[in-house]
Amino acid sequence: MSGALKILVLVLAIGGGLIYKNVSQLWADLPAPKLDPQEWWGDEAQPKDYAAYLANSSEVIGNRLSYPEKTITDLFTRLNRTLRLTPPLEGVAFEYGFNTDYLKEVVEYWRDDYLPRWREREVFLWQFNHFTTDIQGLRMHFLHLMVYDENKVGKQHYPVLLLHGWPGSVREFYDLIHLLHQSNLDKNNKYIFDVIVPSLPGYGWSQGTSRKGLGPAQVAVIMSNLMARLGYDKYFIQGGDWGSIIGSHMATLYPENVLGYHSNMCTSMSPKSHVMGALAGLWPSLFVPSGFEDLFFPKSRQLSYLIEESGYFHLQATKPDTVGAALTDNPVGLAAYILEKFSTWTNPSYRSLADGGITKRYTMDALLDNVMIYYLTNSITTSQRLYAEAYSKEQRGLLLERVPTPVPTGCARFKSDIMHFLDIQLKDKFPNLIHSTYHKQGGHFAALEVPKVLHKDFLEFVKKVEQKFNIKPL
Ligand SMILES: *[C@@H]1O[C@H](CO)[C@@H](O)[C@H](O)[C@H]1NC(C)=O
Ligand SMILES: *[C@@H]1O[C@H](CO)[C@@H](O)[C@H](O)[C@H]1NC(C)=O
Ligand SMILES: *[C@@H]1O[C@H](CO)[C@@H](O)[C@H](O)[C@H]1NC(C)=O
Repeated sequence: MSGALKILVLVLAIGGGLIYKNVSQLWADLPAPKLDPQEWWGDEAQPKDYAAYLANSSEVIGNRLSYPEKTITDLFTRLNRTLRLTPPLEGVAFEYGFNTDYLKEVVEYWRDDYLPRWREREVFLWQFNHFTTDIQGLRMHFLHLMVYDENKVGKQHYPVLLLHGWPGSVREFYDLIHLLHQSNLDKNNKYIFDVIVPSLPGYGWSQGTSRKGLGPAQVAVIMSNLMARLGYDKYFIQGGDWGSIIGSHMATLYPENVLGYHSNMCTSMSPKSHVMGALAGLWPSLFVPSGFEDLFFPKSRQLSYLIEESGYFHLQATKPDTVGAALTDNPVGLAAYILEKFSTWTNPSYRSLADGGITKRYTMDALLDNVMIYYLTNSITTSQRLYAEAYSKEQRGLLLERVPTPVPTGCARFKSDIMHFLDIQLKDKFPNLIHSTYHKQGGHFAALEVPKVLHKDFLEFVKKVEQKFNIKPL
């Protein structure tokens, strides 16, 4: 070898070594970060004596909010104003967003049919036991279904935490809560569940923070404290959308508390998992059951669909307060903004339907219940800030996507959801992915749209966790 060549080889070897070291740094699993379990989110100054604060504020209070007549007549007046909406373009359905001709019909129904029945809807919404309690300075709201002792004999009794996302609410879970309740009463059923359904902080009846930094990881801390407050130290988690991300963070930060994590929007964002997803595209049939290839491939089409449908995401991650100001006290705009998601995310093909297909899979009452929750609690801005906090430098710096969690994991994929991950990708984050299903029917809001399918899928998961792991019921 000539001297020059030797030097070149040496330089290449050192360079290669450095690159390898860097890449493997990107690649390597990381330990879970420690988050402050007492981080303060309340409006008031952080109490100097946290133990005294806990002693003072840990009461769980039954809650049944009722809105004054004035609030409802005021909403009526707003809905009764002459609408100055811009008509849709010729031949356009939902492709440019919520169709304004159809929006008029929604507003009419809301004003003339739904709102006069509001007291009935209120009774419906408050049918389960609602509670609030203070966690880290925030008043948190949740539904809590408990199993009575006489029904526990001979059963496997577990708690399950159900976590909603945006633009949803606890309302998404009502049918699923009923199904869990019915199966709790069914003598032939082996499993019974205590069901805990919180509103995320800043969503619905849970207080939003006035401080920066309450991202999904910090919400996971709050939820973990809420479960501890209720006396649950081992539980299942089910979630979609943000509920799925927060559930994943809970499993990552507190694996000792989570018996199993079941998601209908399972994601794995590690660098390794992205590379695997791209490589799997070379031999799709090896990684995807037949009939479901188009959930993943071609990647280019998936990417362009995501770009088309994620404008809201960028907006909320960067300027949540601007879009929030446009929607606050504007029930018509709020309904359009929220309900558009219940059209496209339920089925992308509904974009070509004049009414967005929104009542194909849901009742208008259920959809308006959800809009009412955002309207009455004035939580659209605080709900959107979760996107900004999720993409802050500090939150990204936690690198939670690179912390594997051994918690038994179940993934239920619904064909029309926005995005999907392959088992081979998910296993990087969830080595104990023991349940993985594909459903032909259903989209992003599985709990609201196909509650029976989700319920069955969840029970199958619980059964597998029991068979494979030595878990103890309550
Ligand atoms: C390796 O990463 C460090 C920062 O972590 C960077 O400064 C350096 O340029 C990288 N080297 C190579 C060869 O990529
Ligand atoms: C606890 O409650 C009492 C009575 O409401 C109040 O005087 C006291 O300041 C509270 N202490 C803390 C630490 O919040
Ligand atoms: C609703 O608007 C219509 C038309 O502007 C008006 O005649 C009616 O009085 C309004 N209803 C109420 C209850 O304000």
